[in-house]
Amino acid sequence: MNDFRKSGTIMVVDDKPSNLKLLGKMLKEKGHQIRIFPKGELAVKSAMADPPDLILLDINMPEIDGYEVCRRLKENQSTRDLPVIFISAFTATEDKIKAFRLGGVDFITKPFQVEEVHARVEIHLALKYIKAALEEKNKVLEQALNDLQAAQQQLILSEKMAALGVLVAGIAHEINNPVNFIKTSVVGLQNDMQDLEELIQAYETCAETCPLPIRLEQIVKIKKKIDYHLLMKEMPEMVRNVLEGIRRTEEIIGSLRTYSRLDKVETEKTDLHELIEAALVILKNRHKKQIRILKHYAPLPSISAHPGKLIQVLINILSNAIDAVQKKKEPEHAVISIETTEQLRNKTNYVLIQISDNGPGIPKDILNNIFDPFFTTKAVGEGVGLGLAISFGIMQEHQGTIEVHSNPDEGTTFSLLLPVNQEVI
Ligand SMILES: Nc1ncnc2c1ncn2[C@@H]1O[C@H](COP(=O)(O)OP(=O)(O)OP(=O)(O)O)[C@@H](O)[C@H]1O
Ligand SMILES: [Mg+2]
Repeated sequence: MNDFRKSGTIMVVDDKPSNLKLLGKMLKEKGHQIRIFPKGELAVKSAMADPPDLILLDINMPEIDGYEVCRRLKENQSTRDLPVIFISAFTATEDKIKAFRLGGVDFITKPFQVEEVHARVEIHLALKYIKAALEEKNKVLEQALNDLQAAQQQLILSEKMAALGVLVAGIAHEINNPVNFIKTSVVGLQNDMQDLEELIQAYETCAETCPLPIRLEQIVKIKKKIDYHLLMKEMPEMVRNVLEGIRRTEEIIGSLRTYSRLDKVETEKTDLHELIEAALVILKNRHKKQIRILKHYAPLPSISAHPGKLIQVLINILSNAIDAVQKKKEPEHAVISIETTEQLRNKTNYVLIQISDNGPGIPKDILNNIFDPFFTTKAVGEGVGLGLAISFGIMQEHQGTIEVHSNPDEGTTFSLLLPVNQEVI
């Protein structure tokens, strides 16, 4: 910051021609461009038309005085920031105070010392250039910040899309299971029905024509062939299977509905246990392998919340817990426990959801960073480090908090605290 221009365009306003001449000459010798004005009115017009870098302004002038000139300059957008140095024979403190109050940056008393004028002019020119350079830098920084924010939004969006992709794949897999289940049972039922049809037909055909012993013999034969007793046992079982498959599909679709309320603006009475169950259904194909899920649910009041957003918090934390326990040396001992309680703190009712895992824990030296956007310890493609940052924001929106306790080798607990009667932002 040391190569500021030392010269600039300076406007000198003074009603005394001798002063104008002297000041003009000495400033010109220092390499400044000079514009001199014997009257305030003209000076204001010229400054507005083509602002100089600095103004040296006498106070005591006929028509409009220096104070008025300064006031008019400060009133106008294009001249508001021009540095004005008053140069006057007035020496009283109140004159100086008035000059500064009107926006003057300095005050030189007449008769002046040439060196003093040069020093002050130089300082104020330098300050002006520094200010302009800072403003320029500020603009660049502002632009950079805007770009960064836009890039961050874009990343958050692509993170959501990627998460959605994983979910869709998981859900497709999830729905496939009960659909196969239903299909197998329906095919079985179809076969059984064909066998039954044969039996009924045989019965009808010989019901009237055959003598009773032959009829019975024939029916016994067919019953044996179609394994009638087994068929009667397995048919209701297959119907139960179909109903179970339908129930499971409905459950998955129900949880998807909760997730699709993501961008819903209004809040609604939300049952947190339903939300936890929906999150578990959505993540099911990730946690069913070997992970034991323990639940301790206390009776909870429903809270007013954005269910689509809160489920995102639950999904983020549960999916981190799943990632964590999968790193265990003995993955068959992987446990994730979910505990809910209602709590009274400072006369306010809260619900507390604690999600614990017995994964490897979070090292102490990174514990303070995990909520930072883009902080991740996962490999490229496995995580971008936005899950907890997004969850933190959502909990804040609900006037809640999210805390973590972790002991390396023991595991991690995330605690979500939500006020029961909250005003969601
Ligand atoms: N239960 C946990 N056990 C161990 N480490 C965890 C746990 N939860 C979070 N972390 C650590 O915190 C980091 C940040 O988590 P966050 O959810 O914000 O991002 P991510 O899981 O890495 O990526 P993303 O969620 O965007 O896919 C993780 O990379 C991991 O190091
Ligand atoms: Mg995550």
